[in-house]
Amino acid sequence: MLSRPRRNRKNTAIRDLVKENQLQVTDLIMPLFIIEGHNKKVPIESMPGQYRYTLDLLIQKVNELSLLGIKCIALFPVIEEHLKTKDAKEAYNPDGLYLNAIKEIKKACPEILLMTDIALDPYSSDGHDGLVAADGEILNDETLEVLKKMAVAQARAGSDILGPSDMMDGRIEAIRVALDGQGFEHVSIMAYTAKYASGFYGPFRDALDSAPKAGDKKTYQMDFSNGKEALRELALDEAEGADIVMIKPGLSYLDIVYQVSQNTVLPVAVYNVSGEYAMVKAAAERGWVDGRMIMVETLTAFKRAGAKIILTYFAEEMATLLKKN
Ligand code: PBG
Repeated sequence: MLSRPRRNRKNTAIRDLVKENQLQVTDLIMPLFIIEGHNKKVPIESMPGQYRYTLDLLIQKVNELSLLGIKCIALFPVIEEHLKTKDAKEAYNPDGLYLNAIKEIKKACPEILLMTDIALDPYSSDGHDGLVAADGEILNDETLEVLKKMAVAQARAGSDILGPSDMMDGRIEAIRVALDGQGFEHVSIMAYTAKYASGFYGPFRDALDSAPKAGDKKTYQMDFSNGKEALRELALDEAEGADIVMIKPGLSYLDIVYQVSQNTVLPVAVYNVSGEYAMVKAAAERGWVDGRMIMVETLTAFKRAGAKIILTYFAEEMATLLKKN
């Protein structure tokens, strides 16, 4: 045999030498959930180890993450039921929980990159990402008007990266133009470029209590049967001014991560979503799999597939492990 691939695997040193992909703490974005109140941290049952934090404790957490080397967080709000309306106007209330939190976090931790969410579902009494007409249709162009207000309000509050997760058509351009019109040219957009209608979002919707009250999200989020359609969304988001493109969920969509990364020069991100986290935690709790091994293996798989940036609830655990090694 002239070629023996095992020679490159014979010990740790040589395996490290030939390693093609290695996770770095700077690849990771940690999603965090904010709630009203003081000095509270409420566990999310379907996401063991994850909490909804009040602002004071959230700032503490952000500082801890920063010491571990995690410099970017993605913030999601848990809005109280009585503030949810059909028009989702709480989404751009300057004195509301979310915009206030953005201001305070940037004040307390100016070195942190703060990524914020644009979609109506946390604020919508219908539990949809867009406005819902009387006949149940999710209205596209009318929703863009609300998204633009959210974008400008979040930029004004100090957000560094806007993450439109709503999947309305034309939103990247609408948001870009609205931002630039108000002098927020420096605020970035990470487009949820290929966001699929997925069962893997279950625990996130528990965390926010944001599940759709009627119907599903299939008229705006993508059909999981489709791959090429992601390239169509990619072309649009590039043309509309996205700075970073994202695929979501991650594990069942590595082919999409690969295809997108092969077809763009923009940085590619992947969202390792709540249900993916929950599955690993649940199986590990039962002793059925080694949770830590699977964490490292799946996060590395995202890099191998072509993602540079990984949004993951494992960010803190992974950063802790990287620091130890
Ligand atoms: C909604 C939104 C969802 C997630 C992020 N933003 C859920 C949904 O589309 O219903 C899911 C994230 C996760 O599951 O971790 N705008």
